[in-house]
Parts: sequence; C-alpha cells; structure tokens
Amino acid sequence: MHKNEPRRRARIVGTGFYAPEKILTNADLAKMVDTSDEWIVTRTGMKERHITSPDQATSDMVLIAARRALENARLEAKDLDLIIVATVTPDTLFPATACWVQQGLRADHVAAFDISAACTGFLYGMIMAEALITAGIVKRVLLAGSETLTRFTNWEDRNTCVLFGDAAGAAILEASPDESGILSRYWKADGTLGDLLSLPAGGSRLPASAETVEKKLHTVQMRGNEVFKHAVKRMSEASTEVLKRAGLGTDDIDWFIPHQANIRIIEATGERLGVPKEKVYINVHKYGNVSAATIPIALSELEGEGRLKKGNVIILTAFGSGLTWAAVAYRW
Ligand code: ACO
Repeated sequence: MHKNEPRRRARIVGTGFYAPEKILTNADLAKMVDTSDEWIVTRTGMKERHITSPDQATSDMVLIAARRALENARLEAKDLDLIIVATVTPDTLFPATACWVQQGLRADHVAAFDISAACTGFLYGMIMAEALITAGIVKRVLLAGSETLTRFTNWEDRNTCVLFGDAAGAAILEASPDESGILSRYWKADGTLGDLLSLPAGGSRLPASAETVEKKLHTVQMRGNEVFKHAVKRMSEASTEVLKRAGLGTDDIDWFIPHQANIRIIEATGERLGVPKEKVYINVHKYGNVSAATIPIALSELEGEGRLKKGNVIILTAFGSGLTWAAVAYRW
C-alpha cells in the first residue's frame, strides 16, 4: 500500500455525457483554412467534432451530462453535497461554472467550485473528490469536465482550429462499500512550461483591450510539437506510477483510457506502457480534443455500451496546459 493511501475508497456510481448536435467535419474545416481531411486524419486521428449552438455555454452542457449521470446513478440533485466542474472555458470568469450548474439543477446551497487544470481537470477533480469523500467531509460529489473550446479558437489558424471540440462528461462519486473505486492516484504540474499552451488574454495579466482582440490573444496559443513530446512522456510516467502504487502490472489492465488529444499521442503512450491495442480506448475521431471532458465521456460510453465489467482495472491518464498531468488506477 502506498504511504498516502486513504483507508476507504471512493467510487463512481453514475456517469453521463453530452455532445452538442452540430457537427463540424474535416471537410467543413478544409473550406475554412488551408487543410485537408487526409492531413487531419493522419496527423491527429480526428474526423469530426461537436460544436455548441450560439445560445449554449459550458454549464448548459454540464447540466445535460449531470442529469444523465444522476439518472444513471438513480439519484437526484438533492442527494449531492458538492459540485465540481473542471473547465478552462467557464461561462464567466466568476461566478464559477459549478455555481451556474448548481442553480440549473436546483441543488440548493450545495457547495460548488471550478478546477482549472485544462485537460487534466477531470483527474485532478477525481483526486479531490476522493480526498473529501474519504475524509468524511462530503458524501456525494457531482464531478464534471466540460469545455467550449471552439469559443476560444482562432478559426484562421490551421495549427489549432482543427483540434478542438465542445462536450461535457459527468460522474457521481461516493464512498465505496467494497473493493471497487480509486486504487491509486498521481498528479503533477510544471509551471515552467506554461507558455507551451495558453490563452494569454482576458485575465489580470492582460485584460481585454482592442489590442488583445486584434492580436487574437483570447484564443488558444500552442507549440504543438513540444506539447506532443511532454504528453507521451508524462502520461506513460503517470500510468506506470499508479500501477506501481496499486501493486498492479500492465497485464492487469482491462482498459487504458488516455486523454484524447491526438491518436498518435494515444498510440505512442499505449505502446510505451505495453498495453495491447484493443485495450486502449479511442474516441478522438468523433469528438476531437474536448479537454477536461474526454475522460468522463470515455467512461460513460464504455459503461453505456456494457463494456465495463465489475472488477475491471482501468488506468485513466491525462495531460494539459500548465503543464499538468495525472493518472488514476481504478477498479470498476
Ligand atoms: N493542415 C495542414 N497542414 C498543417 C495543419 C493543418 N491543419 N496544421 C499544421 N500544418 C502544417 C504546419 O504548418 C507544418 O508545416 P511546415 O512544415 O511547412 O511548417 C506541418 O504541418 C507540420 O507541423 P507540425 O506542427 O510539425 O505537425 P505535427 O505532426 O507536430 O502535428 C499537431 C501537429 C497535430 C498539433 C501535434 O503536434 C499535436 O497533436 N500536438 C499536441 C497538441 C495537444 O495535445 N494539445 C493539447 C491541447 S489541450 C488543452 O490543454 C487546452
């Protein structure tokens, strides 16, 4: 047992997700910038992504995913003690998106806050939810990962605009009565690499001005190649560490669910870890990179399709802006 192991476990009792109806295909993108379906598929594995309608914000997607997760868990909003939303594309800088979700769910006076850890946000959230549950501070947490990255995309920049989509995923967590739940966890950050992937303006460093708008500093800025290298290294390192902390080996893995940023990152990480291809979950072709939403969507899809069996060992791992990275070993 790892030295920081809590005495109880926290587990997921319901999942749900939502992807907006409107779909943007690679062919659509080829009409907007100098790109092609062939380039996007070979370099990223992406075929289409979902885009919010003009009246939808991040919390609107969370609300749908959260209601689905509550229904899946046979619970109601009144059963929650805490709402956490992992997002870097909040409805508003404040209040927190989690508060908009709280009012939408009518989960009166339930504590609510956001986590900003980019694509790692859902895993950071799982680790925080586990800590609060196992410490006895809360009983039940609604944890969502949701992004409207297409609102923060420079649609003239082919280097980034093909990569992102909008979606939400949610899970309900509570104390586990048995061996199921979070087995081990690992979370890290390296702020010296913050400039590799950022949204520079709109905060206190660079408040909105005509200049920031003109320079498109309210959109994602990324050094893709460098992010790529860190992603593979860090996700495989984190996955190896949670396996070790849980006393498990690669052969014990039933599902490997890495953050869905690029098919080549997913495959390279799986290969480094030595996970057979059929155990690596991939849905990047359908959604593109939906940041904090990718992990809960994968869990919800697998569960909905009946592909998660009681006792299955799942390794979840992600990396994102910060840079941040994390992994969780989980027994279903
Ligand atoms: N269509 C056609 N050509 C393109 C496109 C495009 N959409 N985008 C870039 N290119 C060109 C480049 O201009 C470059 O051309 P040049 O050689 O003439 O300069 C060429 O393709 C190669 O560019 P690279 O950047 O070397 O391509 P690479 O193979 O690295 O793929 C990619 C780029 C897909 C961005 C990859 O580096 C990647 O996936 N990186 C990780 C990104 C990531 O995971 N980000 C996480 C963000 S999530 C968050 O935290 C918000």
